[in-house]
Amino acid sequence: MRIVLGITGASGAIFGIRTLETLHELGVETHLILSRWARTTISSETRYPVAQVEKLASFLHHQDNQAAPVSSGSFKTDGMIVAPCSMKTLAAIRHGYGETLICRAADVVLKERRKLVLLARESPFSEIHLENMLALTRMGAVIFPPVPAFYNQPQSVEDMVSHIVGRVLDQFGLDAAGLNRWSGFDAGCKNEPNC
Ligand SMILES: Cc1cc2nc3c(=O)[nH]c(=O)nc-3n(C[C@H](O)[C@H](O)[C@H](O)COP(=O)(O)O)c2cc1C
Repeated sequence: MRIVLGITGASGAIFGIRTLETLHELGVETHLILSRWARTTISSETRYPVAQVEKLASFLHHQDNQAAPVSSGSFKTDGMIVAPCSMKTLAAIRHGYGETLICRAADVVLKERRKLVLLARESPFSEIHLENMLALTRMGAVIFPPVPAFYNQPQSVEDMVSHIVGRVLDQFGLDAAGLNRWSGFDAGCKNEPNC
């Protein structure tokens, strides 16, 4: 399997890093593109040196390299994840404005009708953001804001991040190790309706 991963300058660089780590563990070929502002958020929000993140990728492409393989639909991939996805990149993808390689690669994934998963990160959302997300979902992209679940009883931020990343990888039929899935209430649980 081959997946393109874009990390943009929205808050939540750890979502991109954990996605990359998990894909690496699963033996998936990754094509990583970091935006200029992703380099800043990786440094300011995490303990990972950017160079260490880059080393986790099978292939690294500069955001200005429009000649990278992922810039063409003839280069076969199983899809793309943008984690996290800034509102700027979301807007550019919605409008087919491929100025950076992340936006061009996403445009290619859309035109080839491949899987595009966007971890859109902003709060609150403006009408512009919501309209862009609605348009993209209608085009077939999966809008996947990194919103934590609590049914898995996370004990740490790490747990929350891993659970979200596991659910993102579900979109590609990949099974992240240790993903705590909901499987219903235990028999006899007092909280179960009609129990
Ligand atoms: C620390 C920090 C946090 C940011 N968080 C967000 C965010 O959560 N969502 C967002 O849309 N933009 C956020 N931004 C602004 C983006 O980085 C900015 O719009 C940038 O131009 C996005 O470009 P890119 O999509 O090419 O990375 C943040 C910027 C900084 C410095």
